[in-house]
Amino acid sequence: MSILKGKRILLIIGGGIAAYKSLDLIRRLRERGASVRAVMTAAAHQFVTPLSVGSLSGEKVNTDLFSLTDEADMGHIELSRSADMVVIAPATADLLAKMANGIADDLASTLLLATDKKVLAAPAMNLRMWLHPATQANIAVLQKRGVVLSGPDDGEMACGEYGPGRMSEPLAIVAAVEKVFAAGPTALPLPPGIGERPEKVSRGLAGKRVIVTSGPTHEPIDPVRYIANRSSGKQGHAIAAAAARAGADVVLVSGPVALADPPGVRTLHVETARDMLAAVSQSLPADIFISTAAVADWRVAATAQDKVKKTGEGAPVLTLVENPDILATVSRHHTLRPKLVVGFAAETADLIRHAKDKLARKGCDLIVANDVGTGTGVMGGDMNTVHIVDPAGVESWPQMNKENVAAKLVQLCAQRLVEAGK
Ligand code: C5P
Repeated sequence: MSILKGKRILLIIGGGIAAYKSLDLIRRLRERGASVRAVMTAAAHQFVTPLSVGSLSGEKVNTDLFSLTDEADMGHIELSRSADMVVIAPATADLLAKMANGIADDLASTLLLATDKKVLAAPAMNLRMWLHPATQANIAVLQKRGVVLSGPDDGEMACGEYGPGRMSEPLAIVAAVEKVFAAGPTALPLPPGIGERPEKVSRGLAGKRVIVTSGPTHEPIDPVRYIANRSSGKQGHAIAAAAARAGADVVLVSGPVALADPPGVRTLHVETARDMLAAVSQSLPADIFISTAAVADWRVAATAQDKVKKTGEGAPVLTLVENPDILATVSRHHTLRPKLVVGFAAETADLIRHAKDKLARKGCDLIVANDVGTGTGVMGGDMNTVHIVDPAGVESWPQMNKENVAAKLVQLCAQRLVEAGK
């Protein structure tokens, strides 16, 4: 039995003399149990008719991007999604150029831009057109993007010349299509995090006050140099935004980041850990404190008034002193401890053990632990894989984008406040 049995092929027929061979291709594909939905470009109509294509495929032939009747029958996006694979035969120089450059000005080229499936192209054109550096550059781009080619073959051209540019024979194209299916899934997934549906945030924090810290801190060495870390602030800012959407009155205390202030949030901008502590302390009281910032553990004991110069007597020695621990300070506040205090533990090894440790040491109610080791892409990236650690145990969440981690965390905080009757 053929691997093509039950497979749905979207066949795009371009305008070239080889279009007559696409009729035979439809027959060969259907013989093997595949169904074929054909789309013809305007130029293809000069070589074959929709009637012959439709008769052989046994399905409606689509040609017009803006046809109201076609769109009502099956929208053009759906047309590209409902197929298992897209085959272009003949793939003209024009179609290949449009595809390489992302041009979508008719139904065929729009489908090629919108599809989420593997594409196989069977080029057919005059040999000089094929050999032209423009076509070769387009082919190189398309191959790099994963488009599979069948042909072109060498041979006699309709125009009388001899050389590369003849469309592959239908059976060779069928074999190439079979090879693509045999190689594995033909669907092209979206990049991680893109297309993820946002988690719903209910108004569970209406009337509550939330303080969030975010980003790195900068600890000056002299007027032009500082100690910092790779935190982008994406996770903390997303949490502040999610808390605001949940109805909370939110203060975001942010270190230096390249992000816009989230909407509906009062953002206080700080540089150093000591500034951050002061801003947080002044923003108390609050119902929830979420300490997402990657606060520098140390600062330079004596910041130089002027730029430190090379003296020729070796490197200067920087004496470091420990910064105040903002999370521990808020957790142990005698009078204004928020009802729920959440810390983060960004670790590169022994994640859960360190997180449990931190829970006790910092006196917070919950730790969100994440692995920020080299290669995880968490620091500065859009995705995060977190583990929620509290005295009762550990709950691991699947990898998701930082907006969804934020939304889930805010939901969890709202739930914890209710459970504790706070
Ligand atoms: O000890 P470590 O820096 O790994 O702890 C991380 C947690 O403590 C984070 O929630 C961070 O925001 C907070 N922290 C803080 N002040 C510091 C150091 C860390 O609030 N000086």
